[in-house]
Amino acid sequence: MTALATRLTRAWNLRHPIVSAPMAFAGGGALAAAVSRGGGLGLIGGGYGDPAWLAEQFRAAAGQPVGVGFITWSLRKSPSLLTDVLRHRPAAVMLSFGDPRPFAAEIRAAGARLLCQCQDLAHVMDAVDVGADAVVAQGTEAGGHGALRGAISFVPEAADYLRAHAPATLLLAAGGIADGRGLAAALMLGADGVLMGTRFWACAEALVGARHHQAIVATNGDGTIRTRVADIARQIPWPQGFTARIRRNAFTDRWHGREDELERNVAVEGPRYRQAFAAGDPENTGVWFGEAAGLIHSIERADALVERIASEALAALRRHEGAAHGAR
Ligand SMILES: Cc1cc2nc3c(=O)[nH]c(=O)nc-3n(C[C@H](O)[C@H](O)[C@H](O)COP(=O)(O)O)c2cc1C
Repeated sequence: MTALATRLTRAWNLRHPIVSAPMAFAGGGALAAAVSRGGGLGLIGGGYGDPAWLAEQFRAAAGQPVGVGFITWSLRKSPSLLTDVLRHRPAAVMLSFGDPRPFAAEIRAAGARLLCQCQDLAHVMDAVDVGADAVVAQGTEAGGHGALRGAISFVPEAADYLRAHAPATLLLAAGGIADGRGLAAALMLGADGVLMGTRFWACAEALVGARHHQAIVATNGDGTIRTRVADIARQIPWPQGFTARIRRNAFTDRWHGREDELERNVAVEGPRYRQAFAAGDPENTGVWFGEAAGLIHSIERADALVERIASEALAALRRHEGAAHGAR
């Protein structure tokens, strides 16, 4: 099979233009290593910063080049975490949800590639200012935290901005991409590759319980919601403007729209949420996936999935090339 070569595969020496999202709690070393083994680049989820857990995940990924991602506003509270993690020599570091300025120089000085995940054009401008190697344009379809821009217009707008202001900066599309059609479409919109979370969450190597995996297979793309209720229950102070897309379930039905009441009852509801999460209950806690759920019908192995999506995308692009020739 001829490979699907893009600026990303050439610049970062990948077989396929596919990066896995650094998913807090779910994206550990085994998943990241599997994505890299499959020809993409796997990112470990740095989440809210647990140095012992991160060290274990880098050990689990040993032998494969992997990167890591941080929630930027949270990293500001314990910046030494970045210095610790850079000792593992990550291939790349992704910053998302906050100002990348305090961390960009240290990441680049360590020889890691810097990805900045952006939710709007103002973020893209900040990413260019700090000299990011790649911008990830994240659409609202995405699982987990994000904002409001839809990928179909945000990705090409980001591509136009980069072409005009930072032509060497690579662009990845994120949000709602789970198969070869999504990858092919992202390339048509001007991206050099994709970053996928939900599709990799639904892989055997993810740190996700069996009942949460069953829930994604049973849920279609209508079955998610952007909401603050999971963060209120967990008492994680996310900055305004960011919400989390999670599965609609008994927990979101009960509390979405009643955020003030949930805040008042958090002493009871917080532990309830955490216990249900630890027990793998798919109804009474946050189940973290996005609209791509509607494209996911089975739990797969991440390394084989990377290969399959890349070859599906190549086939889709060739079909369209053929159709364009036919129309002449
Ligand atoms: C379970 C889960 C956890 C996530 N955690 C993080 C995170 O800790 N940091 C981050 O930058 N993005 C996180 N994201 C968002 C991803 O970086 C990415 O934007 C998103 O998964 C892309 O959309 P998709 O889920 O439709 O593929 C998470 C996504 C999911 C599904």
